[in-house]
Order: sequence, then C-alpha cells, then structure tokens
Amino acid sequence: MRTRLFLPTVWLALASLTHAAETVWLDALDLSQMTQGWGTPQTNRSIREQPLAIGGRKFERGVGTHAISTARMELDGGSERFLAFVGVDDNANGPASIVFKAIADGRILWQSGVMKPGDPAKAVDLDLRSVKTLLLQVGDAGDGVSYDHANWAEARFIVSGAKPRIVGVPVEPAIILTPKPGPAPLINGPTIYGCRPGNPFLYRIPTQGQRPMIFSASGLPRGLKLDSATGIITGSIAERGEYRLTLRAKNQHGRSSRPFKIVCGDTLSLTPSMGWNHWYAHYDRITDAMMREAADIMVSSGMADVGYQYVSIDDCWMNAARHQDPMRVGPLRDERGNIVPNKYFPDMKAMTAYIHAKGLKAGIYTSPGPRTCAGFAGSYQHEAQDAKQFAEWGFDLLKHDWCSYGQIARDDKSPDMFQKPYRLMGDLLKQQQRDILLNLCQYGMGNVWEWGAEVGAQSWRTSGDLGFELNNIFNVALKNAEHRAWSRPGSWNDPDYIQIGHIGNARVGGLPAPCPLTPTEQYSFMSLWCLMAAPLFYSGDLTQLDEFTLNVLCNPEVIEVNQDPLGQCARVIELDEATLIMVKDLADGAKAVGLCNRGEMETTVTARWADLGIKGKPRVRDLWRQKDLGRFAGEYRAIVPRHGVVLVKVK
Ligand code: GLA
Repeated sequence: MRTRLFLPTVWLALASLTHAAETVWLDALDLSQMTQGWGTPQTNRSIREQPLAIGGRKFERGVGTHAISTARMELDGGSERFLAFVGVDDNANGPASIVFKAIADGRILWQSGVMKPGDPAKAVDLDLRSVKTLLLQVGDAGDGVSYDHANWAEARFIVSGAKPRIVGVPVEPAIILTPKPGPAPLINGPTIYGCRPGNPFLYRIPTQGQRPMIFSASGLPRGLKLDSATGIITGSIAERGEYRLTLRAKNQHGRSSRPFKIVCGDTLSLTPSMGWNHWYAHYDRITDAMMREAADIMVSSGMADVGYQYVSIDDCWMNAARHQDPMRVGPLRDERGNIVPNKYFPDMKAMTAYIHAKGLKAGIYTSPGPRTCAGFAGSYQHEAQDAKQFAEWGFDLLKHDWCSYGQIARDDKSPDMFQKPYRLMGDLLKQQQRDILLNLCQYGMGNVWEWGAEVGAQSWRTSGDLGFELNNIFNVALKNAEHRAWSRPGSWNDPDYIQIGHIGNARVGGLPAPCPLTPTEQYSFMSLWCLMAAPLFYSGDLTQLDEFTLNVLCNPEVIEVNQDPLGQCARVIELDEATLIMVKDLADGAKAVGLCNRGEMETTVTARWADLGIKGKPRVRDLWRQKDLGRFAGEYRAIVPRHGVVLVKVK
C-alpha cells in the first residue's frame, strides 16, 4: 500500500525535475525588443561583432549589448533559474565601466558592481521562482556610455513551464495633461530681459489668446516702440540702466498684464534662451525655405506665444568639398575670403529679415576648426570676417562647435587651449553692433562651465550629442545638474536639444519619424530641462507637430520654471536607486519640485518638506495639469510612472 503510493510521487517529482532541466538560451530569444544605447543586440558575438570574450575567457554563446540596455522579460511563472557570466567585452578598447543588474518585479535581485575592461567574468545564478517580470539591465556606472560593450555570456533560463519572452516597453497612451489656453489674452515669457546699449532691440511679447489683440506697455524706455497690433517691440536703447515696464494685452474676451524688466548693460540671456534648432530633424537637408517655414510655424502653432524665439540653423548651410547633394558642393569662400552659403541659401539677409519681421530671432552655426562636424566650411583663420558677416546678415545667435579644431589644438600645450577659440569668437561678437548670443558646443571639455561665461558665451553644452543617448535622458540631466553652481542669469549649462515628437535618427541623419520616447518620457524631458534652467530648443520636425507634442512644449506654467529670473538649476536629492527629487528655488519664494522615477516600474515617490527646506503646510500645484492640489503637511507623495517626473510648485 505504502509503496504503491510512494512510487508514483517519486516518479512525478522526477518527471518534473526532468522537465525543469529544459534550458532556454537568452541568445535564442527575440532580441529585437531589447533597448540599448548604441548599435543593436548581437547573438553569440559582441557589439563589435567579434567572438564574445571577457577577461581573456572566450564564450560560444550569449548576447553582446551596449549600455544602457534593458531586456524586459515576461517569465509567466515558468522560469526557475537564470545563469550567466557577465563582463565588459575584451574588444571594448576604451575606458568602459558597466554595472549589470537583474531586477525582479521592481526589486533589485542582483547586481555586479562596477565592472571594467579585463575584469574576469562574474557568474550569475538567480532563483526566479515566483518572479513575473525580470529586467536584465546594463548601466553606465555613472561615467557615460562610451565603450560600454557589455556581454551576457552563456545566459540561460532553466525553465519548467512557460518559456521566457523578451517584451517591449509597455505601450502608453499619449495623454494631454494641460488644459487648452482660453480665448482671453495671457502674457507669458520672461519677466527680465537683457540687451546691450545702442544695438537693435527686438522682442515679441509672447501672448496666448485669440487675435486680434491690442498690446500696450507702460514704462517703455526711450528709443523703443511697440506695435500695438503685433506686440512686437523694436528700436534701440541708448542708455544703460534698468527699465521697469508693464506689458498689457486685451481682446474682446479679457485682458492680461505682466511686469517686464529690461536690463540694458553687458549681460544677455538673463533667462535661458528658447527656440528651435534644425539639427535633429533635418540634418544636411536644411534649406532657406525650411527655415522660413519653421518661423511661420513657430508663430502659427502658438510656440512663440509661450516664449520660443530663436529660429536656428545648425550645420550644413555652407559648402562642402564633397557631399552627396551637389547643391551643397561649391567654393568654401569667395576671392575675398568671405564664407559662401550653399545654393539652398541664396540670400541670408533676406532670410533673417523674414524671421525678424515675425518678431523672432535667427541663429547660425560654425566651427572654430577648418571644417564643421559634418565636413562643411568652418571659421578657422577667418574668425573676424565671419563674425562680421554673421552680424551683417542679421543673426542673433551663434552656435560654435569644436570638431576639426581638435587637429589645431592637438599641438597646443597651453593651459587655455580649450578657451582660446571661444574667447576669440566671444570678443569678436561683442564688437558687433548686434546682440548675438554665443552657444559653445564642445561637449564639456576642460570644464567649460567654469569659464564659458568669462570667454563671452551665454551657454555651453555639458555633454556629447543627446541624439545618441535618448534612452538615457535622466543620466544626461543628472550629469548636467552637477554643474548647477554655474547656472545663473547670462550663464547656462546646456544638455542639448529637446527631442520629442518627430525627429530623425541621429546616427544616420534619417528623415523625421516618431521619436523613441514614451509619452511619459517626453513629459520628463521637458520637466527636467525646465528644472535645470537649460536652454529650451526644440529640435524636432515642426511640420509634423501634433497636439500631444505641442502640449508638452507649450505649457506656460512649466516654462515659467525654466525662465525663472533667479536662474537656479535644481538641486538633486537621490532617494534610492530609482527615485530622486529635484528642487529649484524660484524668485517668488516658491519651489519647483520634480518627483522623479528613473526606474522601470511605477513607484511612489515622497518629497519630504524637511529635505527640501520647506516649513509649514504649503500649497502644492500640479504644473502639467495647472491644478491646485491643496495644502500638504510634512510631505507630498505621488505615484510616478516608469521614467516619469511629477512636477509641482510648492508655496
Ligand atoms: C556636433 C554637435 C551637434 C551638431 C552637429 C552638426 O555633433 O554636437 O549638435 O551641431 O555637430 O554637424
């Protein structure tokens, strides 16, 4: 009797064990749903398409990937164990540093610690019973993703039931959070504005509401005039000084007023510059016609009504010695050494005049080297001539790249070799009879934030091209925020352009298509850039703006955080691996607070007033929804989605 009962039980147990022995290799799964920072996931070879090797040990099987990468696995209760060897691939050829992580249902189950090239492979052996969703992640260990070639070698699941599947990022609906602006006027934009004495003045009062509208201003300094129908202020102020104005607008639905202080002196860009730049949408396809169309849309879409102002051309407006499009090939300079725009730009002066007539400003691009990053004519040894030319053409902003200047600087051992080309251009721009902003684009070399303002720039990129790191906007933002001490009126850290809506693929300079960011990530992009007081340049395709993208770009309460006259970049309070608070002091005594979740799972984030230096029971306002949430004692907590930021104002 006993034996008869016992035998089948053993047999069943043995049978299930045999069943459990099924091995499912990670490299045999559909890797197309994995996300990663560079390249595509490789089966049984490294990201460089070489045999997998870690610390001198070769592996036949596995997945070669690149930080930051995530394989989101649905296990459906069928997996018992996960086994692998991980490490930096031996062919990385550079200063990589990586952290591998396994996150089970939102909880870190295992992590490798920082791994560097040459480190021996680390063995992973995880118990997965009761795990539903497993994330296999490769992080950049905090120093950027360069050379972070990561291997999940011999990675496999021991499966007793359903097979593991790699699934994509959960699909989210694109929800419009912000109420539509009403028909009554609402004046937006900065409350403080810098200009230089004697130079042309141009400011279009950013105002939402139905046209026609009548604009007026009190306190307008001598030399300026306001067009009451368009709200465009032009002229020139001769005397240095501070001028306090009240701007007003009215229409049949109501009226609006806003204080506006003009500081006529040496400092430009008292708040971060705002506009559009063509790069991430149109690369080497940009034309004069597209620039004019961009100016048209900046007004017709309502972007100019919330403060977007600069219409900026990037690289590729000049000639190149070689290019697939013969219209962009021609003499780099004329017989007098003047730079020659390519055939798509027949009349630069007419183009800027077109932009200016709308009350907007025009931006241009060059490189201190002989060639730009895309191989077009640069300004090397023609700096004075070019600065004068840009001013004569009527440009109001110059983006100054680096690229081929590396060849010039290579033999320069002087301590100020990074500053030199920018100091030169900064001085030259100051000599022009125009207010021309200078934006440095040298990716943060030589701690540019420490000397950017001193050499005459108003902003400087703090890192490489964000177009290559779009799955990494939190990291890029946090690195940028490390330089918060240098953020102040006239001096801004620039983490690169806003890339939401339709953008091209930066790697191949592709045609604009929907960006890879989820709706939540697109809101986060804007929230982070506003909290950091970063220059706000949209760099997507304006001709494909949809309601969602416009909603993210054009919420005046969110933009007001960016344009706050104190010019502070938010302080970061890290709470745990995934969550953090960003807090920015505002001029009116309130604070803008971002409750941030970098993690892969929705979670609750708590902003404790004590950590934020807030006393009493302040009012909390949801800035995206433009809605008061009430008074809160001690703390405010919110459920924050994957890669989300809940942005509130606390007063
Ligand atoms: C560099 C810059 C980009 C863009 C391109 C143009 O990569 O960082 O922002 O200007 O050059 O070639």
